[in-house]
Order: sequence, then C-alpha cells, then structure tokens
Amino acid sequence: MSASLEVYPPSAEFVAQANANAALYDRADADRLEFWAEQARRLDWDTDFEQVLDWSNAPFANWFVGGKLNVSVNCVDRHVAAGKGDRVAIHWVGEPGDSRDITYSQLLADVSRAANYFTAIGLQAGDRVAIYMPMVPEALISMLACARLGLTHSVVFAGFSASALRSRVDDAEAKLVITTDGQYRRGKPAELKTNVDDALGTGDDAAKSVEKVLVVRRTNHDPKLPWVEGRDVWWDDTVGESSDHHEPDAFDSNHPLFLLYTSGTTGKPKGIVHSSGGYLTQTSYTFHNVFDHKEGRDVFWCGADIGWVTGHSYIVYGPLSNGATEVVYEGTPNTPNEHRHFEVVEKYGVTIYYMAPTLIRTFMKWGRDIPDAHDLSSIRLLGSVGEPINPEAWKWYRDVIGGGKAPIVDTWWQTETGSIMISPLPGVTETKPGAAMKPLPGISANIVDDNANPVTHGEQGYLVLDQPWPSMLLGIWGDDERFKETYWSRFADQGWYFAGDGARYDDDGALWVLGRVDDVMNVSGHRISTSEVESALVGHSGVAEAAVIGAADETTGQGIVAFVILREGVENTGDTLIAELREQVSVEISPIAKPREINVVPELPKTRSGKIMRRLLKDVAEGRELGDTSTLVDPSVFEAIRRKRA
Ligand code: WTA
Repeated sequence: MSASLEVYPPSAEFVAQANANAALYDRADADRLEFWAEQARRLDWDTDFEQVLDWSNAPFANWFVGGKLNVSVNCVDRHVAAGKGDRVAIHWVGEPGDSRDITYSQLLADVSRAANYFTAIGLQAGDRVAIYMPMVPEALISMLACARLGLTHSVVFAGFSASALRSRVDDAEAKLVITTDGQYRRGKPAELKTNVDDALGTGDDAAKSVEKVLVVRRTNHDPKLPWVEGRDVWWDDTVGESSDHHEPDAFDSNHPLFLLYTSGTTGKPKGIVHSSGGYLTQTSYTFHNVFDHKEGRDVFWCGADIGWVTGHSYIVYGPLSNGATEVVYEGTPNTPNEHRHFEVVEKYGVTIYYMAPTLIRTFMKWGRDIPDAHDLSSIRLLGSVGEPINPEAWKWYRDVIGGGKAPIVDTWWQTETGSIMISPLPGVTETKPGAAMKPLPGISANIVDDNANPVTHGEQGYLVLDQPWPSMLLGIWGDDERFKETYWSRFADQGWYFAGDGARYDDDGALWVLGRVDDVMNVSGHRISTSEVESALVGHSGVAEAAVIGAADETTGQGIVAFVILREGVENTGDTLIAELREQVSVEISPIAKPREINVVPELPKTRSGKIMRRLLKDVAEGRELGDTSTLVDPSVFEAIRRKRA
C-alpha cells in the first residue's frame, strides 16, 4: 500500500565500518545526561563541567555548568596540536573557478590574525559582530575568530537586502560589520559593500552601534568603491598585517557563540541565541555519527550557505570540530553549467554529500545524463535537510547520485535546535524514502494532538521535543517573553518545546515530518514568514492589504503566492504593477522572498470577525475546489478568482 512499506536496511558492508551502533540508543536511554556528558568529553575543556544540565530555570537551559572551553581551539588548534596541521580543512571552490586549499595550520594562522585585529580595535567578549559575506574562506575565518574571542557573531545571508541587514545590525547592536567588496552571482560580480553602506546610513540615520566595516577584497569589480574614511578598512591592510599567533581564553559553556535571525510567525525576525559548550557538543556528536565521518579519509560537502543554520553547524562547527576535510563552494549549482557539482565531487573525491531536497529535484529536472557523465563512485553517504523530501526524489538521489547503495540520512532539525535531532543513523537504522525515521540517541521527541495526547500510528499531530537537548537555543536575543511564548506556551503544562511542524508515525512507528503547521513558509528550504512578505507588500504605496500563503511547488517545496487589494483610486497596471510589487519584496527582504505569483483581488476572504482565511487562499492557489466558504462575507468573490485562474 503506502510508501511506508518500502524499507532499506543498512548493508552489511556499511554496518561493518559504521561509527554508530545500536548500543548508542541503549546507552542514551539508560542515562540521558550521562550519555551527553560522554559526548561533551569528545571536546577539549579548559575547565571541566560540574553538572551536566541545570534545568531549574526552564525553559532557559544551562548545559555543562561550570565548564569552560574555547570553540575555535576545539575546531582548529587541537588538530594542529595533534600533528594534523597539514591536513586540508577546506577545499574552497570559487564560483569563477578559482580555488584554495586551506590546511588546519593555515586556518589557525588566519583565525589568529583576525582575532588579533578584532582585539586591536577594542572588541571584547560579549560584543556582537555582523558577518554579511558570500561563501569565501574569510567568512568562516571571521566566525572562528569571533568564537575565539567570545564575540557573538550574527551572520546575515548575503542575499538579504540592505534593509534586512540594517534591522539585524540594530537589533544585535553590532560593533563590527564584515563584508566583501562584491559577490559573484551566476558568473557576474554583484554589489555587496554598497548594500552595507545603504544599510548603515549616514548622519542622523546612521546605525549607531557600528564602529568599523571590514572589507574583504573578492570581486575587485569597482575601482571607485565608495569608502567611509575612519569606518571602512580593508581586510588585507588590517587582518592581513596582524600577528598569526594568538593566545586564546576559555569561555563559559553557556557563553553566547552566535545569534542567527530566523523568520517566525510575526513580521519581525528573531535572533536565535546559541551557546558554546552545549551547541558544540551536539553539532560535533551528530557530525561524527549521522555522517559516519572518518577523520583523514572522508571528504565532506554540505551545500548550504553560512547565512543559514545548516552552514553554521555543518560547514563550520560540526566538520571542523571533528578535524574533517570539506568542500566549501561559493556559487550556484549551474554556474558555469549544470555539471559543476559533479565536477567538484570528482575532483575532490567527495564521500559525504549533504544537500537540500530542492536541489535534488532540480537535478532531476536537468536529467540524469548530467550526473551520469561523471564518476561519483567516491560518494558513500548522502544527506538531506531543510524540507520534507518526497519519496521520488529520495529514490532518485540514492540511485543516481548514490550509485544505488549510499544510505540517505534525512535529517530534521531547525535553527532553534542547533543540530540534527531526528535522522536515521547510517549503519544502524533502516531508512524509508521520505521518512526522518526516529530521534537520535539522546533526543526525545513525540507527536501529539491538541490536548497533548500521543497520536496513534497513522494519525497526524504536532511534533514536540519533550526533553531538553545540548544544542537547544538559549533564547531569543533581547526577548525572553517571546522565547517562552513562541516555543513553550503551546504545551506549557507539559513543559514541551513546540517545533511548529506537523508529523506522523507510520504503521511501523517510523517518523515522517510533514512540514510547518504555522504561518511559516518553506521555499527551497528557506524559512520565510507570511507576515514578513505581507508587510513588505503593504509597504508599497498602492497596496491597501495583502495576504500571503505558501502553495505546493514541485521544485521549491512551496512557492509564495500573494493576494493584494489596491488602495482606492490606484490603477491596476497589470504586469508593471506586479513587477513593482515583486521588487518591493526583494528590496525589503531578499530576492528569495519574491512571490511566485501575485493576484490583485477586490476582496480578501475573511471571516466575519475579520480573520483572513488562508486555508481558502491555499485552495485557490493550489487549484482545488474551495473548502467551506460559509463564514465568508462574500463567497462569490473567490469563486470568481478561482475561475479566472483555471
Ligand atoms: C523544515 C533548517 C522535513 C521544518 C535546518 C523545520 C524539515 C524547518 C527537515 C527549519 C526535514 C528541516 N524534513 N522538514 N529533514 N529539515 N525541515 O530553521 O519545517 O531553516 O521546522 O533549519 O525546516 O528550518 P531552519
């Protein structure tokens, strides 16, 4: 009957060499805290912790109480000290085809230089640094240098607009912004530093917290790059001239390592705060076990951008804390052509390949001739992240990219969870196309109904995390109330974390994540809130009201569909207006948030109490018969739109 009957057990060959084994689940079940203490000891601590978890101030967690460590030492120095300095940490591949191999020794020198410069300009532990950069090595180096000094970094995706950058810089009161002169976008240099100038403003409007803008030369596309004397400095002239030796201090386990803004159900993005010791413990543990990573043998490649949590945890902290060798790629998968990823796999002998379902579906559309033209036999493990993976894409991934035998780890987690939470363990757990299978050892999740009762197999419910975990968020930057309200109020009596996702167990008890149950859309694995896009649209002078929904999309998972009402007297200029509105969203948020479709409508479907009925809009956008319209003020309006679209 259902796809749930299709089971792929691990092969004997994989089992024989796997890092993980079934005993891991037993050990974690026997004593969860002791299990996590064991995992924490995979790291180097300057001061050992006295207590594994202090949960007395729940939901504010304190993991590894009393412990002190330096995250950058754990990611860099300790590998050099162990004689692995000549190992390549990063095979960096630039979009135009330039490349750099960076060994752990070189990484240590670079991180030390940056740390020395940050210290020289007066930054101190606890200060915030905004990083707005494409995928260049200096982005990773900057993150590690912040970690080294206890500076809390806030990476802002370089595809975000000036206005999105400004609100994040202001919210975090960042003292330093690190950027590049420009960035490559599909083969051409595009502006980046000028976005920073726009964001930071001048005079009365200037971002008050920012003292310096540190600029890495990347594209060299503009000989007259605007420059603010006293504020702007070149990386080469400053970091480049600093000493490559730096003595690090250790920081509390709960010291905030980074902030990362993510979309919630309201318009204002929230700064998710992550810890040092707990965060690194779980990213490091999951990297080792979920990716079955073998030091000195594997070549790992995670295709995320450091602007997202996946880039933080599985490009920077997870791989580097394990002494991994990884590919870091700057560009898009079809620059200069669709062979790019497979050429990189061949060139570096990539063994573990971790991508988003959107990309896999895009490869499927391009056709299997492209991957088939390459030797991908080095790949031994595949990963998926960011959105539910449909069974067809899962099978194609395994057959075409994984040579019909590489296990797939479908990893469910969130910006808030910091690390992978639900995933098969390769060599241990069976896999099913489309299922995240079960919580990792040490993690406890459940699927419950509105009344917090566990759902029966086959029924859909809410995904909750009913035990704290080491890489859990410390909170929302500057807003404890919002933290409690957003994640802990839905099941307050039980004290559970509500993830915002729907899920179900199949008849065998395997866990399937179904996607968001709130007003968050997932477009190509990017979280975008409906209200954020709505407020950008309403920012256009012609728009009176807007409603936005995520409609099913074959490639991107969901596509953004908007419905707008124009102000009195505003003329609907058709395509011109639509183009203006899409541009408005691009400028306010990012090109990734541009609606796929904008419908100008005379009315929005509202209940008599004035609530927009998104469910009906979804029906319209997905071409279904309209659901129950009985509460609508004027049901005929939407019948008319649906007929017009059909
Ligand atoms: C979705 C990305 C199904 C989910 C790491 C979650 C997934 C949101 C999966 C978090 C998966 C992530 N299967 N859905 N394997 N992984 N999601 O914060 O809806 O960018 O809540 O973190 O992505 O997105 P975020």
